[in-house]
Amino acid sequence: MKPLPRYDIAQSYDWNYAHAPDPVAMDVPAIPGAWDFCGLPVASPLGMPAGPLLNGRWILYYASLGFDVLTYKTVRSSHRDCYPVPNLLPVRGGTRVTAAGDPTDSWAISFGMPSKDPAIWRADIEQTRRALGPRQVLCVSVVASPEDGWGLDEIAADFARCAHWAADAGAQVVEANLSCPNVCTGEADLYLSANAARAVAQACRAAVPALPLALKIGAFDNLDQMRETARAVAEYTTALSTMNSVTAPVFDAGGEPLFGGLRRGIGGAWTTSRCLDELRLLAEVIREERLPLRLIGVGGVATADHVRARLAAGAHQVQIATAAMLDPECALRIRRNW
Ligand SMILES: Cc1cc2nc3c(=O)[nH]c(=O)nc-3n(C[C@H](O)[C@H](O)[C@H](O)COP(=O)(O)O)c2cc1C
Repeated sequence: MKPLPRYDIAQSYDWNYAHAPDPVAMDVPAIPGAWDFCGLPVASPLGMPAGPLLNGRWILYYASLGFDVLTYKTVRSSHRDCYPVPNLLPVRGGTRVTAAGDPTDSWAISFGMPSKDPAIWRADIEQTRRALGPRQVLCVSVVASPEDGWGLDEIAADFARCAHWAADAGAQVVEANLSCPNVCTGEADLYLSANAARAVAQACRAAVPALPLALKIGAFDNLDQMRETARAVAEYTTALSTMNSVTAPVFDAGGEPLFGGLRRGIGGAWTTSRCLDELRLLAEVIREERLPLRLIGVGGVATADHVRARLAAGAHQVQIATAAMLDPECALRIRRNW
């Protein structure tokens, strides 16, 4: 059989945006059990996080390939260009992350959270929602676009504006991205401040009172920080999505730093055990604190065993980015091996 089409890492974000594959007719084996995503019934625990699904056409492609929670790549309240290619650079891990000349199971992610103009993404979400199946859920990831002089109130309000627009267009779940590793401005790593995370969660909750609200977070420096953030957001938040890739400096084969020496989020196999550990710690904190938070397991998931391990660690739903981009049959493979 001809390999299924996939994201072309040699091409730009805009090229890939315009060249989404059509849905395919595949046999999608069931995963027995009653599954939900943030309280909404879904056919399986398999989802895709914000990133690979650049628009509604990409969403419908992967919805035909066995994923039941489809997250629209993070959108903003105004247009934002993508960083130049490479946006996805194959890497090899170890103590140091090094660019690989050939395809690998991990890559450095460098998009800078581009966004189409809100008029474009709002119309696209509206159409996409209508085309999804009955036990599939459309989640939309949003982020603020801080301007000079903005404080936390303005940043939270910009998150809330996008959340409201997403809900208005038909999002069933809104996810606020509090953890983009590839930007250096005020919207990155907000989850590390309990105060900032609370402000964004509270504003989004007020903007979408009827919808489940997820927060995408990254690695914490220590347990106290994790506990503080979890406690601060619990009142307003349905689920925490952990985690948004492991960050690392990336070097070329000669040891020279790439990406101007800035860290990049790494997705894929290199991050599997780190992301599982983080999920376990967060699950423990949530249990100890008796917080009403669900968990979404993300990072380095590729196999049925990985999915089971995340569920056993406390996730109620598991999301796959890199492995699903490298192999669009990833969810079908997991279902066949369940
Ligand atoms: C192509 C690509 C683009 C991404 N863009 C976003 C994004 O816009 N917003 C976000 O919250 N995470 C983004 N991510 C991070 C993923 O949601 C996920 O947290 C990360 O890749 C770890 O999962 P993985 O190991 O399965 O790739 C992106 C990841 C990839 C691979």
